[in-house]
Amino acid sequence: MTHSCLTRRDFMKGAAALGALPVSMVELTFADARENFTFAYISDAHIQYISGNKFVRNWDRGLIRAVAETNLLNPKPDFVVFGGDLAQLGMKEELDHGAEMLSKLDYKTYCVMGEHDYYLDLGKYWSKLYGPHYYSWDHKGVHFVTLNSILTYDDWTHERWPTAMQRMIEMAGLDNPNGSPFMVGEEQRKWLAKDLAKVSKDTPIVLFSHSPIQKIYKGWNFWTEDAEEVQALLQPFTTATVVYGHVHQIQYNQIGNLSFNAVMATAWPWPYPQSYAQAESFLPKLTVPMNRADPFFERDATGWQLIDVHSGRVALHYKLYNNADRTVAFNPATGRPEDRTYQAAENRISPQLHY
Ligand SMILES: [Fe+2]
Ligand SMILES: [Fe+2]
Repeated sequence: MTHSCLTRRDFMKGAAALGALPVSMVELTFADARENFTFAYISDAHIQYISGNKFVRNWDRGLIRAVAETNLLNPKPDFVVFGGDLAQLGMKEELDHGAEMLSKLDYKTYCVMGEHDYYLDLGKYWSKLYGPHYYSWDHKGVHFVTLNSILTYDDWTHERWPTAMQRMIEMAGLDNPNGSPFMVGEEQRKWLAKDLAKVSKDTPIVLFSHSPIQKIYKGWNFWTEDAEEVQALLQPFTTATVVYGHVHQIQYNQIGNLSFNAVMATAWPWPYPQSYAQAESFLPKLTVPMNRADPFFERDATGWQLIDVHSGRVALHYKLYNNADRTVAFNPATGRPEDRTYQAAENRISPQLHY
């Protein structure tokens, strides 16, 4: 892989066509330009059933518009990834309605399991629509992996709740102390180790999960309990990137050789944990001073981003409803993703105080 051919001007051309919604475009660029390709990323639609044929309109509109704009992308992506939380409470009505909207995509679509899709029937109906909960594939020299990262302890899943809907509701609450930490689990980690054993160490790895495969904030399940064990399987590779949804906000981080980037939601933005005064947060594993959206704009951190990959490193170009454009890109000089405009700001305050 060599330098991306996506210039700022190309990006802005794309911007005009896209409007203002969370569609991510990923460009992977190779030495031979004929091998270049892009893919798009849509996440966290949270389609919510009311009654009869009624659904919460805002969330419907977010997904419908993202699908329409993805179909208008130029260049055409090779495929689309939907990053999880298609439904709000895992109901058949919600998954069917969401799937119908996603089926309007003109491209092959890969789906990631979200906790809102899973905890009613433990992913059974989702599987009818989309197949296995975890899988991998190769595309033009890149190895892609999708994990189901939102599993949890068996006793919580199988023994604690009087009804399946009660279990779903408890896990759906962002700051509900009755929730349980997400995890990938031993079965998938074993599968992943086996899957990656077949892949040469200089092949770029791009892994999709719903929750971050890093420990950001346990109180809101911005967290994966066995994150370090999954990271260890990715560390031997020259270039590995994790792209995740779930957090509904801009996040990026670097742990060892592993880059992390969150994509935004079509439904709503979450605030950053420390902007909740009652929540004591330590953000222990964030190694990069991170910019953030303005907590006084309720739609801030809602927008869309284009992603391109330079030599296997992801760069995200954000176009936000209520804030200046920003770019988060891997900086080879420091070995981490950075918002360079933000990093260079003279009056930048520390990330701990900035929230
Ligand atoms: Fe979500
Ligand atoms: Fe989620």
